[in-house]
Amino acid sequence: MTENISDKRAVVIVTGGTRGIGKCIVKRLHDDGYAILFTHSNSDASAIELANALHRPDHPCVGMKANATTLGIEKSIFDKAETLGDVVGVVNNAGITGTISKLAALEDESLSKIVAVNLVAPIRLCREAARRWNDRSSRSSIINISSVAARTGSPNEYVVYAATKAAIETLSIGLAKELAPRNIHVNAVSPGTVDTDIHALAGEPGRAQRVAKNIPMGRPGRPEEIADAVAWLISDQATYVTGTVINVAGGL
Ligand SMILES: NC(=O)c1ccc[n+]([C@@H]2O[C@H](COP(=O)([O-])OP(=O)(O)OC[C@H]3O[C@@H](n4cnc5c(N)ncnc54)[C@H](OP(=O)(O)O)[C@@H]3O)[C@@H](O)[C@H]2O)c1
Repeated sequence: MTENISDKRAVVIVTGGTRGIGKCIVKRLHDDGYAILFTHSNSDASAIELANALHRPDHPCVGMKANATTLGIEKSIFDKAETLGDVVGVVNNAGITGTISKLAALEDESLSKIVAVNLVAPIRLCREAARRWNDRSSRSSIINISSVAARTGSPNEYVVYAATKAAIETLSIGLAKELAPRNIHVNAVSPGTVDTDIHALAGEPGRAQRVAKNIPMGRPGRPEEIADAVAWLISDQATYVTGTVINVAGGL
């Protein structure tokens, strides 16, 4: 029987890959040799542009419009990724802060969406990975993108966002222990402030520069610096690393 080359290709799923940190993770992992399936919910033009820039038939980079809050979407994401090859990694990157406000002003709709995107969706994708990787014996990897907010609590800005990030770190630690016997690694990367569109979407485009004075290194992080940590965790340089949270936060 002829073996299909795509069965051998190592594929990584990256959620929220169309801009900011996720886009850098897509580029870096694709550069490192992985085929990529990345998702987004809205930014169609950016998705097409990114896929067009990176995709080659023998080295795929494919975008998928897949709102993280859609029930059962994790199954469609994995189904699509498996058409590209052997899924070896999941990076749960998609995240939203909601508009900057005190908790008292947070509406129910925003509250539900923040929890759905930042916590429920990554949990479902982790669960899908645990199910799909039942028969894998070689190493697989889940990397959840947290935030320095998990440690600061982000008072007066977005405490619910911060709470979801703390929860995703706890999930990563527990799930790592649960899945270690199956050679599935689970880690989190916790960025400090990075100058991406997330701050404008929260209502303060200049936030990264404003908070820079509180960062020991005196500057926001670059998306590439977060992608470096993800690339290391998924690589064969990190074969004994699981259940950890890597702070990439300029000293915070
Ligand atoms: N930037 C920072 O300062 C910072 C600091 C710490 C942690 N982080 C974390 O790093 C991750 C990336 O942040 P970023 O700053 O790069 O954000 P960003 O620039 O706003 O990008 C977010 C990405 O997620 C996608 N996305 C948003 N909602 C989605 C949904 N419902 N379903 C699917 N995809 C969705 C967006 O595409 P669509 O708009 O098309 O959906 C976009 O590709 C997040 O988890 C964030 O919490 C960021």
